[in-house]
Amino acid sequence: MQDQQTPFICHIFVCLNDRQGERKSCADGEAVDIHKKIKGMVAARGWKGSIRVSKSGCLDRCAQGPNVMIYPQQIWFSQVTEKDIDRIFKTIEKIVSSKE
Ligand code: FES
Repeated sequence: MQDQQTPFICHIFVCLNDRQGERKSCADGEAVDIHKKIKGMVAARGWKGSIRVSKSGCLDRCAQGPNVMIYPQQIWFSQVTEKDIDRIFKTIEKIVSSKE
């Protein structure tokens, strides 16, 4: 095992867990499109090497989904819709500018 420091300023996890209607899950909302859009915006800004946008499994807040969390900043957005992407992106911009 190698013990390393993360190469990313932050890691954005978008829960895409799908419970197939068994009970509420993040995939019931717009999580797939939210993930694609945030990932595309990060790439368009040239931040691919420093901001990682990942699909995640269940984050244990299913009833409040879709959920997006940003680590290590401990920021959590719940009940996210595509209308919230600009606000999430502003948060990401603040994180990046604080590291420049
Ligand atoms: S399904 Fe997304 S938090 Fe559980």
